[in-house]
Amino acid sequence: MSEHLPGFRDFYPDDLARRNHLFAILREVAVRFDFREFDAPVLEPLDLYLEKSGEEIATQLFHFTDQGGREVALRPELTPSLARLVADKAESLKKPIKWFHLGEHFRYERPQKGRLRSFFQFNADLIGEASPSADAELIALLVSLLEECGLHSEIFQVRLSDRITWSLFLEDRKVPQEKRSDLLDVIDKSSRRDPEATLEALETLLPGEGKAFLDAVDELKSIDTLEGITERLHSFSQSEEDEAARRAEDWKVLINRLESLGCIDAITIDLGIVRGLAYYTGFVYEAFETSGESRALAGGGRYDHLISKLSGGSSDLPASGFALGDVTLADCLEANGLLPEIDVGPDLYLIAGGQDERVVALQDSSRLRKAGYAVTYPLREQGFGKQFREAGKSGAVFALVYGEEELAAGKVKVKDLTSGAEKSVESGSLIEELLAIEEAGGLAVES
Ligand code: HAM
Repeated sequence: MSEHLPGFRDFYPDDLARRNHLFAILREVAVRFDFREFDAPVLEPLDLYLEKSGEEIATQLFHFTDQGGREVALRPELTPSLARLVADKAESLKKPIKWFHLGEHFRYERPQKGRLRSFFQFNADLIGEASPSADAELIALLVSLLEECGLHSEIFQVRLSDRITWSLFLEDRKVPQEKRSDLLDVIDKSSRRDPEATLEALETLLPGEGKAFLDAVDELKSIDTLEGITERLHSFSQSEEDEAARRAEDWKVLINRLESLGCIDAITIDLGIVRGLAYYTGFVYEAFETSGESRALAGGGRYDHLISKLSGGSSDLPASGFALGDVTLADCLEANGLLPEIDVGPDLYLIAGGQDERVVALQDSSRLRKAGYAVTYPLREQGFGKQFREAGKSGAVFALVYGEEELAAGKVKVKDLTSGAEKSVESGSLIEELLAIEEAGGLAVES
């Protein structure tokens, strides 16, 4: 028996119906926030990711040389493609750009709970606006997406952090510029590995200072209020006007906006979030289940220099965005009994007595389908009893019965497969009759 590759999934029709249902919710919520859908190639030049995504993703690429000798890779994330699209038309696109995308991504990771090698992401990005109001709008969208799927702030939290606060911390400790990104990387990983490993990594980067540095990191990570962050940033400040003072103001604007947008209950300040991707420059966040059991539901943040880099410096647009993954979302919904069972049966099942009745039923199937009904009928001739049993199993809402008697009287019998009630209707007004029956909520059994 052949199998799919590890970390890839087959979607049988019921699975796909569920996925499509969730995606329809995500698309609808994005439109409510006035985001527009776009698309980009699944296959991109390898360099796009080697240069832009950072080391971790570079080791996880599915890549190959195509027949034309080009080094190409399946997209592991969307952000570099999006930045390229925007950089190419930066002048002519209306700002701010608010775009979303739903599509498949590929990373060669070890398959495990919440992590596969092929997965879908919903991406939303807001480009051309540098103020924290853009970050707030994105976070509000993320919270709405999760809520509209049935989740609430007791089940998930968006953990909010800031790379600039971390940079100011490193500057305050006079850490040399060339060591800063490696240190942020160690801080990023510190929540996922044991303290000894973190200490060892810190000692390698800052010989003799590892322990003191780790204590200072832990102290910063323990801050979870706006007041705490403001106080800390002011301790880095030299004046009322410097970057640390401005950053305290940005935090205030962001938190106030999130409060006004009604999603503050879903937000936790957590400076333990640093994010592994190379391009982030400001506020960053990840959504997690509060049970703490699974991998992130979503992650994102501000990346103000990526578009400038991709345009060779010709256009410089501030940008911010996030991606929500379908694997952890479906796991979380399932764990909370919120994964919907989607009914994929037809609307109507046509049952015909003999040859003549079948001709009329097929003609009706054609006009009913044109009218928008999902219609099915047995492909082989079968007795009435078997057809009724099949109709029951099909998941159809109504059966339309074409018997000898009905045909002679120019009628069709409508049977409500839930209540079992029946009604004979004029063949010529079948569609109007069906609409009226649906409007009445089905056929009731006469008492
Ligand atoms: P990311 O944190 O790498 O961010 O991925 C975002 C989400 O995609 C994760 O939280 C997770 O739900 C899902 N995901 C990632 N890798 C896997 C995997 N191997 N299996 C299943 N799900 C996965 C980004 O990709 C950024 N480009 C997001 C972004 C958009 N930043 C700005 N704009």
